[in-house]
Amino acid sequence: MRFNGQTYLIILLILAIIGSSGFFWWQHLEAKKREANLNIEIDKRNEELTLKSAVIEELSGKLAMTSDELLDTTDRLRGEKDRNDAMEEQIDELAGTVSDLDKLSKTDKELLQKYSKVYFLNEHYIPESLTEIEAKWKYSEDKELKLHSKTNSFFEDMMEDALDDGVEIWVVSAYRSFYDQASLKGAYTVTYGSGANTFSADQGFSEHQLGTTIDFTTRGLSGGLEGFASTPAYTWMVENAHKYGFTLSYPDGNAYYVFEPWHWRFVGQELAEDLHDKNQHFYDLPQRDIDQYLLHIFD
Ligand code: DAL
Ligand code: ZN
Repeated sequence: MRFNGQTYLIILLILAIIGSSGFFWWQHLEAKKREANLNIEIDKRNEELTLKSAVIEELSGKLAMTSDELLDTTDRLRGEKDRNDAMEEQIDELAGTVSDLDKLSKTDKELLQKYSKVYFLNEHYIPESLTEIEAKWKYSEDKELKLHSKTNSFFEDMMEDALDDGVEIWVVSAYRSFYDQASLKGAYTVTYGSGANTFSADQGFSEHQLGTTIDFTTRGLSGGLEGFASTPAYTWMVENAHKYGFTLSYPDGNAYYVFEPWHWRFVGQELAEDLHDKNQHFYDLPQRDIDQYLLHIFD
């Protein structure tokens, strides 16, 4: 059989169609295969992801638990710390109280007692330590005058500051023993009879036996006491003595003795300042209120 050109062309065309269809089919199969592989890969990744999510979820759970435990522990520790702090505070307070009690037990209780016809010091009472007053502060330089040692620095500060302000103040009497007071009172009684009771204490009832009390004079009084109230020295004392712990025991109109502007007693800065601020005097206060000041009398 013979083929003409046209027939060849048709055959070629058919072969080309068959060939390209085969190629496209092959391509289609390949694409299907790739898609199937991709799906397998995706499934695998999804599985891994699910696995990882589960792990993350488990870890989160554990972490949440740990956070809760941590919060619990923090709360517990905080409570513990608060309790420790409170206990420490109590211990400090207790230590403070113990040291205050110790200090108080070593402080002479007589120093803030009321001696004016109220309270009695026997003949054996002498201050724990006495210091000789420096000559420059005494009216009679040769006279032996002593002061409670613990009041000495307060006294000297006061005298120096008065002098800096141009005020001359001199001591004429300070510590007097039970027997000094007895002979002084005896001498006054000889001269003034029972009138001596208005300005002189019986032995055992004088603040001078404490060593913390001083009688002052100043220029123009010839070493005497009378007239002290109208001197610049008295004015200075009224305005300043409290800063150094001294207070006027017997103001005008007091219940015990005549007005004694020259007679000043050391009661500690705290009490002297409170008395000054409230315009009160030592003997106006009940003894139990005065006793509160004993702890800090020499601070
Ligand atoms: N002049 C005072 C009251 C005394 O003798 O202690
Ligand atoms: Zn006096």
